[in-house]
Amino acid sequence: MLGHHRPVWAPDDVDIETPSAARMYDYYLGGSHNFAADRELAEQTIQAWPDAPHLCRANRALLRRVVGYLAGGVDQFVDLGSGIPTVGAVHEVARELNPDARTVYVDSDAVAVAHSRALLDGVPYAAVVHEDLREPDRVLADPELTGLLDLSRPVAVLMFAVLPFVPDEDDPAAVVAAYRDATAPGSYLAMSHGTDDYRPVAAHRVVDVYTRASHSMTLRSRERIGSLLEGYELVPPGLVDMIHWRPEPEGALPDPLGGDVTRYSMLAAVGRRA
Ligand SMILES: C[S@@+](CC[C@H](N)C(=O)[O-])C[C@H]1O[C@@H](n2cnc3c(N)ncnc32)[C@H](O)[C@@H]1O
Repeated sequence: MLGHHRPVWAPDDVDIETPSAARMYDYYLGGSHNFAADRELAEQTIQAWPDAPHLCRANRALLRRVVGYLAGGVDQFVDLGSGIPTVGAVHEVARELNPDARTVYVDSDAVAVAHSRALLDGVPYAAVVHEDLREPDRVLADPELTGLLDLSRPVAVLMFAVLPFVPDEDDPAAVVAAYRDATAPGSYLAMSHGTDDYRPVAAHRVVDVYTRASHSMTLRSRERIGSLLEGYELVPPGLVDMIHWRPEPEGALPDPLGGDVTRYSMLAAVGRRA
């Protein structure tokens, strides 16, 4: 539908008619930085996969657990495809554990970048880069990033729920490898990734919905996701269902899907570069 109303906070140059993967994700999480077109397509996703809001919340909980784990050994973070800021952002979790931790957020979505910049204005040790993660050289040479991070020291590269937006023809393995090769020994890669292994029919309905969004979606098998982690030594428990990656003690977090990993259909892993 054309002619949607433009909210006052929307940057003038933002296309509000094409549903954006970043703003649809904000909608699933109950955020308010989305437009009518985003909400309409997000509702179609929810029809195809009614658990979508739950899996997005579980993915954010995973991100917090992973950053909490990594902050024990690393004090530099690059969050690729960081999205629209929401509670439990990387710099908050990392600095709670290590006040010297530095975080650079990277996203290609103008609304995600504008809101990240507004939120981080005046916040020390945090920066935002408006860039496409498929251009590792440009991301890693951006003055915002090089001004904050020392790439000769270990860094944690985060890719949460973003590689499904890098289609096979853009060679996601080569993209991941470029970040791996550009980071120092002792650096980490952490990722979550949707899989179509468990519920292929419903998963492909979701993929079909995203053909009408800013980014198409590619869900991958466990084997393909594992192959993206080449060159990293996985820390225990390895590549596992997202809710099984170092879970909180039983009952600490609500699990509305009763531990049914097929309803989440998201895998997670953290690897260390030797
Ligand atoms: C589903 S959201 C995930 C947000 C966050 N990483 C999380 O897990 O909560 C995917 C994000 O990746 C961003 N994104 C997709 N493709 C990208 C690309 N090529 N470069 C940078 N960001 C990208 C989208 O704009 C969106 O903000």
